[in-house]
Amino acid sequence: MANIFPKWSNTLAPKAIVCGGLVATVLPLAMWYYFTPKYTRVGYMPTQPVPFQHSLHVQQLGLDCRYCHSYVEVSSHSNVPSTQTCMNCHTAIKGQSPKLQPVRDSWASGKPVEWVRIHRVPDYAYFNHSAHVNRGVSCVSCHGQINQMEVVWQDQPQGMAWCLTCHRAPENNLRPLSEITHLDWKPADLGKNPETGKDFTQLDIGTKLKDEWHVKPPVTCTACHR
Ligand code: HEC
Ligand code: HEC
Ligand code: HEC
Ligand code: HEC
Ligand code: HEC
Repeated sequence: MANIFPKWSNTLAPKAIVCGGLVATVLPLAMWYYFTPKYTRVGYMPTQPVPFQHSLHVQQLGLDCRYCHSYVEVSSHSNVPSTQTCMNCHTAIKGQSPKLQPVRDSWASGKPVEWVRIHRVPDYAYFNHSAHVNRGVSCVSCHGQINQMEVVWQDQPQGMAWCLTCHRAPENNLRPLSEITHLDWKPADLGKNPETGKDFTQLDIGTKLKDEWHVKPPVTCTACHR
């Protein structure tokens, strides 16, 4: 019977096995290392000194994120609120609650409540909150539905690949500036797109804002590694 494969194909099998073997063992290991929650810290949910609930204060009481995270629009850093902010209400409301004892202690001593920090980028990478929230990126894109959380956890990996995925296609995340802290906002809230006759989609809105505002997130190394 004639050999239907050309001669060079004889070496193909071993090559395929070697290459395939490498890919089959090394790649999953690397993927496992980079993408499991342990490495990316997705799901990290430390116990806080006070059982503060975003769901109650945001969803039920209707407080805006910026009431407490007041620097988020004006500074690179988004602050955690001072004890004074809590005491605006908690001198009068639940003034005796044992859950609020660390807040009252802090008020008396002047030492801040020791909130456990959850989100963090390493020092060698530069991140700025105001540059994002003033360009139509909502808290929800990077922190998830904080408004519904009883205890805050890390929702997104926040590694370099994650930053770059959005920087390459920001239209998937842009929204009107008035809706930045409305985490439940949906593009369909704007009604129907007259061009398509269907509900507005994220891509309709995102593409329009990207063009109007000339949004062009940086992808060069020195933008984030200064
Ligand atoms: C009444 C004050 C208050 C309001 C309103 C509030 N927060 Fe917070 N936020 C806190 C406090 C206190 C902490 C630290 C304790 C904790 O993690 O629960 C915190 C923690 C966080 C963290 C985690 C910070 C870290 O350590 O990485 C994020 C993210 C966050 N808030 C986002 C939001 C968003 C988004 C909104 C609006 C939807 C919001 N917060 C509204 C008080 C508030
Ligand atoms: C605008 C007013 C307001 C502010 C500001 C505020 N809270 Fe509250 N908080 C409330 C109300 C209202 C409740 C619900 C009280 C109830 O269940 O009757 C509450 C409940 C709580 C409870 C539950 C108390 C219990 O015994 O069940 C904790 C803990 C708490 N808040 C922590 C905080 C912390 C920490 C801050 C500051 C970061 C803060 N709150 C800021 C209004 C506020
Ligand atoms: C483009 C992504 C992105 C957006 C949008 C964003 N954040 Fe963050 N946030 C981050 C990253 C990344 C960190 C860690 C920053 C660091 O380590 O300096 C962080 C950290 C925080 C912290 C912890 C700061 C600390 O020092 O403890 C709070 C609070 C916070 N964000 C609140 C908000 C709120 C509120 C909004 C919306 C108004 C928001 N963020 C929008 C990515 C984002
Ligand atoms: C969900 C989308 C999104 C994510 C996630 C995101 N960015 Fe951005 N980034 C943007 C947009 C939009 C801009 C604004 C671009 C413009 O103004 O043209 C921006 C701008 C920037 C800038 C330029 C402005 C400045 O402050 O110098 C830097 C640096 C930056 N981002 C770093 C980061 C880093 C680091 C991360 C990850 C920790 C990150 N970004 C994650 C959307 C995102
Ligand atoms: C949009 C922002 C952004 C850009 C652009 C960017 N980086 Fe990064 N880079 C980060 C962040 C954030 C981290 C930290 C990731 C983490 O916490 O695991 C990082 C981490 C790294 C690391 C440490 C290893 C790792 O993967 O965690 C290296 C090396 C690196 N970057 C090199 C580069 C080079 C080279 C470029 C240009 C081709 C580049 N970066 C462009 C944001 C960026």
